[in-house]
Amino acid sequence: MANARAYLPGFGNHGVSEAVPGALPEGQNSPQRAPFGLYAEQLSGTAFTAPRHENRRSWLYRLRPTANHPPFQPWLGGSLLKSGPFERPPTPNRLRWDPLPMPTAPTDFVEGLVTYGGNGEVGQNAGIGVHLYACNRSMEGRVFFNADGELLIVPQEGGLVITTEFGIIDLEPEQIAVIPRGVRIRVALMGPQARGYICENYGALFRLPDLGPIGSNGLANPRDFETPIAAYEDVEGGVELIQKFQGELWSTMLDHSPFDVVAWHGNLAPYRYDLRRFNTINTVSYDHPDPSIFTVLTSPSDTPGTANCDFVIFPPRWMVAEATFRPPWFHRNVMSEFMGLIHGAYDAKEGGFAPGGASLHNCMSGHGPDQASYVKAVEADLKPMKIENTMAFMFESRWVIRPTDHAMEAPTMQLDYDDVWSDFDKGKPTG
Ligand SMILES: [Fe+2]
Repeated sequence: MANARAYLPGFGNHGVSEAVPGALPEGQNSPQRAPFGLYAEQLSGTAFTAPRHENRRSWLYRLRPTANHPPFQPWLGGSLLKSGPFERPPTPNRLRWDPLPMPTAPTDFVEGLVTYGGNGEVGQNAGIGVHLYACNRSMEGRVFFNADGELLIVPQEGGLVITTEFGIIDLEPEQIAVIPRGVRIRVALMGPQARGYICENYGALFRLPDLGPIGSNGLANPRDFETPIAAYEDVEGGVELIQKFQGELWSTMLDHSPFDVVAWHGNLAPYRYDLRRFNTINTVSYDHPDPSIFTVLTSPSDTPGTANCDFVIFPPRWMVAEATFRPPWFHRNVMSEFMGLIHGAYDAKEGGFAPGGASLHNCMSGHGPDQASYVKAVEADLKPMKIENTMAFMFESRWVIRPTDHAMEAPTMQLDYDDVWSDFDKGKPTG
């Protein structure tokens, strides 16, 4: 059961957790001797000198220091995981893909990562990588971490048990997890297979958006974010540790489990959030607010209000707007939009956008409802109605998302996507 495990509530709070009473030092971070002979180690997610309200770091008390490992060597496993700079010239065309196929050969979470595109550059701490994963076995004898950015994991099918240095997160579709840069993870499957989406954030850490006139409540409420409590393994034996560093995968062998943190405190930790708890806000009069009203988390850039990445959802909600075209309208956007569907149907597309699929509408590409959705919406007898059984999302970025070679050449690419906008009747201003 996903909720059987204990979590600490709250977004970005200073968490305090110990798996063994007395493992946390009292009154200081790094005493001359930490309790039980543990090693005190700081994990910094922001620069030491970041302003206090931005500063994120935790102290970990562990069986061995993280530094206890042999040199990393290039990982020879082969991977479709790519990083910025994405050098393939981007296409101005609108793109859509059928669901990522489940693997037929044994494939774990790391082996099942496939990059669809991204922007920015890992070395510049700007941009995102957009990945999907599809896997059919748990990671065994293998641990992964990403030195290039935090990972926002959006499961679409199948639950995951994510063991982290801070504790264990159970994650199922309609929940998300964020794993900070550098934090070791081991992903086990709850069922026979799993698939989902990942936004790898090279930029400023995801945070809750400001609420402006909405006030002090609403959208994703801070109390609904959950951080795992400390749990550790005292396990000897070979473990392959794989890291992504500046876009390349490297590995080394440990002679022990790296999940050996007995206690921790601080405000940098993995967390999960249940999208079904989103306090959805929308119009109660007419017209349609911009989809930014559905922002769950945002990674700001140096330009105010212009995100490195916004994570936006389209959850079940009441539609009550009067005299209004209710689906997402036609538009062109300076921001670039990568969309996925967790389950159900998206209200701007009658077909073709399937759970596990994806679409990409880059800067200034015209898009909006397909013809069938348009006709249905303009002819509807408008009554309050609820959109149910759906959960779509968007990674929206200020920078153009450049697809990878793999994404552009995948057999799942829908070569006829433009046709969804080809059959509209012409407006008749003269009657
Ligand atoms: Fe859009």
